[in-house]
Amino acid sequence: MKNIFKSYELKYKDKVNSDPWRLKYHLMPPVGWLNDPNGLCQFNGIYHIFYQYSPDSPYGAHKGWGHYSTKDFITFKQEDIPLLPDSEIDKDGAYSGSAFIDNNRIHFFYTGNIKFEGNYDYINEGRGHYVNYFYSDDGFHFSNKECLLKNKDYPKNMSCHVRDPKIYQKNNQYYLVLGARTKDSVGCIMLYKSNDLKHWSYNTTLTTQKKFGYMWECPDLFELDNHIILITCPQGVKQDGYKYENIYQNGYFFYDNGFSQFHELDHGFDFYAPQTFVDEKNRRILIGWMGIPDADYINPTVEYYWQHALTLPRVLTIKDNHIYQFPIEEINKLMDKEEHISLKKNEPYHYATHSCHMHFITPSLFRIKLRKDVTLDYDGKVLTLSLKESGYGRDARHIEIDHIYEIDIYSDTSSLEIFVNHGEEVFSTRVYDNLDDTYITFDQDIAMDYHTMNSYHII
Ligand code: FRU
Repeated sequence: MKNIFKSYELKYKDKVNSDPWRLKYHLMPPVGWLNDPNGLCQFNGIYHIFYQYSPDSPYGAHKGWGHYSTKDFITFKQEDIPLLPDSEIDKDGAYSGSAFIDNNRIHFFYTGNIKFEGNYDYINEGRGHYVNYFYSDDGFHFSNKECLLKNKDYPKNMSCHVRDPKIYQKNNQYYLVLGARTKDSVGCIMLYKSNDLKHWSYNTTLTTQKKFGYMWECPDLFELDNHIILITCPQGVKQDGYKYENIYQNGYFFYDNGFSQFHELDHGFDFYAPQTFVDEKNRRILIGWMGIPDADYINPTVEYYWQHALTLPRVLTIKDNHIYQFPIEEINKLMDKEEHISLKKNEPYHYATHSCHMHFITPSLFRIKLRKDVTLDYDGKVLTLSLKESGYGRDARHIEIDHIYEIDIYSDTSSLEIFVNHGEEVFSTRVYDNLDDTYITFDQDIAMDYHTMNSYHII
């Protein structure tokens, strides 16, 4: 199967690289489809970024893991494909999973997706979602895989949908967190306990008092600033005013004394399945999938045989009971010399390139027009991001926020990540306009700090 994957990479590489919408400083699939970041870690100084990868179709087909490594987030190496859906324990997909470093070894846990043949609904019957395991002692060579838990090992009230393992360690005890859907279609997480990372016993199931969606994907349980945090992606949560506008949600609960209310991490059109890890500088870093499943908007990059990307790596901090996210400082090394530009009220300014960073200290109310038809409008209560043609079906998303003082826009060829108040709130979205639609208009006289962003290198 590795050879089949490689043959797609060879066959479509030139077509993919001829796409003017290829991003300059965001990770993308070499060819084909990418979704969730997986197995994020730093080991012996090297960062490993794995991801859900289907080189055999830009719409996703056989899912294995892809792999990039980097020392500095400026130069990346495309590594050999580390994990394929090629065995009895993962034949219909080597789905999402994570890495845990212990005793100088990277331990990987992932979901083996199995579809049994027959007339099944594949929710309560007919599907295996196994917890599978492999390890690496150098980050580049991987052990054989083995299955640690099968569906029969889960509590009786669980549907077949149990996936996306992540490890949490507390007081020398290992916990395995799994996202799940009960037979009654309640989204939840399950916790398993172990002393050796191999033998797991069921501990408990956690969910909110009031049902919050039918399935929770990609759970991530960790501590930050003395808070216990659970990031997860609930499916089946109804839109509530300006909250939960996407088909599936992303966000976090504080789990200090039971579940807090749910906070959305990113309000943009294209953000899902974030995963965090702690690096050797002790930073809690988050990378998300800049995409979302089953959306009714599209990405024209499929014509060039690829789809989706990862967000910039973001450092998490907590302020006033709220998670802030901001791109890691290494990204600043991609910035060219800073320019201070005076924008005149309502006069379009033509900047150099879509691959750029823009920073504003904002007035109390404002409207920014960007590119061909992107608008960012703040009325003192709600920040609205709207797109027209260049959104390919993306219309408007909102953030309710009482005070905005600062905006940072990380723009790439076909993406925008908009950080409000240094990461208090974020919009991530894909956008597809002409490469020379590099215009910005502000509805007031304002100063803009501008950097061209240089491209990262992939070797
Ligand atoms: C989230 C997700 C995970 C699953 C993976 C499969 O986007 O559905 O729950 O493991 O994608 O690619």
